[in-house]
Amino acid sequence: MLRENDPLAAFWMPFTANRSYKEAPRQLVSAKDMHYKSADGRDILDGTAGLWCSNAGHCRDEITAAIAQTAATMDFGPTFQLGHPLAFEFSSRLAALMPQGLDRIFFTNSGSESVDTALKIALAAQRARGQGTRTRLIGRERGYHGTGFGGISVGGIVNNRRVWQGLPGVDHLRHTHDLARNAFSRSFPAHGAELADDLERLVTLHGAETIAAVIVEPMAGSTGVLIPPVGYLQHLRDICTRHGILLIFDEVITAFGRVGGATAAETWGVTPDILTMAKGLTNAAVPMGAVAVSRAVHDDVVNNAPEGIELFHGYTYSGHPLASAAGLATLDLYAKEGLFNRAVELGDYWADAAHSLKGLPYVIDVRTIGLVAGIEFEPRQGAPTKRAMEVFHGCFDNGLLVRATGDIIALSPPLILERGHIDDMFAMLADQIKRIA
Ligand SMILES: Cc1ncc(COP(=O)(O)O)c(C=O)c1O
Repeated sequence: MLRENDPLAAFWMPFTANRSYKEAPRQLVSAKDMHYKSADGRDILDGTAGLWCSNAGHCRDEITAAIAQTAATMDFGPTFQLGHPLAFEFSSRLAALMPQGLDRIFFTNSGSESVDTALKIALAAQRARGQGTRTRLIGRERGYHGTGFGGISVGGIVNNRRVWQGLPGVDHLRHTHDLARNAFSRSFPAHGAELADDLERLVTLHGAETIAAVIVEPMAGSTGVLIPPVGYLQHLRDICTRHGILLIFDEVITAFGRVGGATAAETWGVTPDILTMAKGLTNAAVPMGAVAVSRAVHDDVVNNAPEGIELFHGYTYSGHPLASAAGLATLDLYAKEGLFNRAVELGDYWADAAHSLKGLPYVIDVRTIGLVAGIEFEPRQGAPTKRAMEVFHGCFDNGLLVRATGDIIALSPPLILERGHIDDMFAMLADQIKRIA
């Protein structure tokens, strides 16, 4: 039990087992490039880019300098009926990176806010099109779309939903995770494109004229690296188009090089109507999110509105100067260092290393795409999730940061990593897996 004046007492930590953490804290005190430094002075190899977000590695001088310079020039400037050049410059640069046609940008401060913004824009667009009966939102089982009420409603993680009443009028597609048919896939699993037909079931059940939008992560990250089956996303796109349903890709994890290219949409050749981002947008150096919107959706909302404010939505910090400066410096770094190519350059080496874990105790699946890997364990009888958590702890104690989610270890390193880091990462991980009971 913590004493009242314990320095760890006040911070109610997010998505953390607070009591056990505070009994045995794991503190990070600094970071540079591929490594964190722990409070006890150890280098920790970053296998997760923080939380899927520091894609260019940590404490990059160019980003730090841009933030410092902007903080000294204009610490804050409102973007309600005012503006500042950095936000406009950043939106133009971002628009140029998005899939063809998604060139209108709304700024937020996080992935959760990006999701809620995208859902609202979809509803506003349907109404502006004279389709005001389309108010239903469709998510997918095992989807993670942050923690706003919109996000938990369309999300499909039971623990994020069971305590709170979500939005009404929401339904979910079946998830695509299918170990029986797809275990140990490299890249896209072969089976499951037909699962997109589940949307036809919901259209039949509810009527297309009630459905505003479908939101999916192109690759579900937070629930353990669920890679879309070959053809699934295109099939979903086609069904949405056929029924006038807007398709939202939540690319909070997949954008900015994670699977190669600026977005998964571009890399995998399927274009949504709306695309959410955060995390790698600023290399996580300043919190920021963004929503890229198709010209058609934007123009329907903006051009059909009466004189005055067209969308009653926004955040005090939308387009914050420090975040915009960090974002611009981040995009420069991505381009200068060719970081969006890293997933392609290193993809085979990465996948070979990850799949070498096949055959270790309790490993029931390894799946890889881009610079992402998911390693799934057979759940311990009566104690699901414990194996991955033990591996997470063991890795941390031995100098490697991995992410545990359910019975899965997820890896998503900074894109600046080299082959030597990959060797070290999987050697350390294999050591820990061999210890689990
Ligand atoms: C796909 C997806 N959407 C939304 C979010 C929420 O982002 P944030 O934690 O910045 O609110 C996350 C976070 O991991 C995510 O992976």
